[in-house]
Amino acid sequence: MAETVLALDDVWKSYSDGEHVLRSVSLDVEAGSFVGIHGRSGSGKSTLLRLMGLLAIPSRGSVKVLGSDSASLKPSQSARIRRERLGFIFQGFNLIPHITAVENIEVPMWLVGVRGQERRERALADLRRFGLEKLADRYPREMSHGEQQRVAAIRALVNRPRIILADEPTSSLDDESAKVFLDLVSRFNRELGTVVVMTTTDLDEAKAGTVSYRLESGSLSRD
Ligand SMILES: Nc1ncnc2c1ncn2[C@@H]1O[C@H](COP(=O)(O)OP(=O)(O)O)[C@@H](O)[C@H]1O
Ligand SMILES: [Mg+2]
Repeated sequence: MAETVLALDDVWKSYSDGEHVLRSVSLDVEAGSFVGIHGRSGSGKSTLLRLMGLLAIPSRGSVKVLGSDSASLKPSQSARIRRERLGFIFQGFNLIPHITAVENIEVPMWLVGVRGQERRERALADLRRFGLEKLADRYPREMSHGEQQRVAAIRALVNRPRIILADEPTSSLDDESAKVFLDLVSRFNRELGTVVVMTTTDLDEAKAGTVSYRLESGSLSRD
């Protein structure tokens, strides 16, 4: 049996107004998988990913990330798991604007104490591995949205997290760039065994994963 890297059990979440945004969500994510979750705007996708990324805790039920129960972790412990074992990709425009692509990719390594020269070498090695070396010295404004999002994906990968959480990473990309992006994260999954959990509003995109779910008004079901 494959190891379970994320385990959500009867998870409910409401914000201060009390309305339930997630309703009894249960989900086991196994090592090696690429999970696609589709749902329309407001269905609870970002809320779900924030719970998986230890950026929030459930109102009821439990979220276990790599064996740790999110509600019993101290802030310093969740910060450490986020830094060392998780990678995040957001909707877009989240590269640091005044530094180059390769410097952006160095940031997560800097946060875990990798030294200067090694940082640069590892960032460049990943850019080369995934065919993006020509972007190394570009600033975000000198790249297309698709290129920026591919650099953000390498940045999420560079510390070799067990899990990458990607919240609507393709929603500001055109169809062709979205496809190139999906091919890239699929390679992370296949070649490095990185677990990917990705949300999208597009049913076909969710099916690019090895397993897909639908989120409707806070309820999750298998596709
Ligand atoms: N911090 C918050 N406080 C109150 N309500 C929120 C907050 N974040 C999200 N919501 C509400 O929760 C619901 C789900 O939001 P969200 O998880 O962002 O969905 P999605 O990412 O699928 O668009 C929406 O109705 C939204 O208005
Ligand atoms: Mg969202």
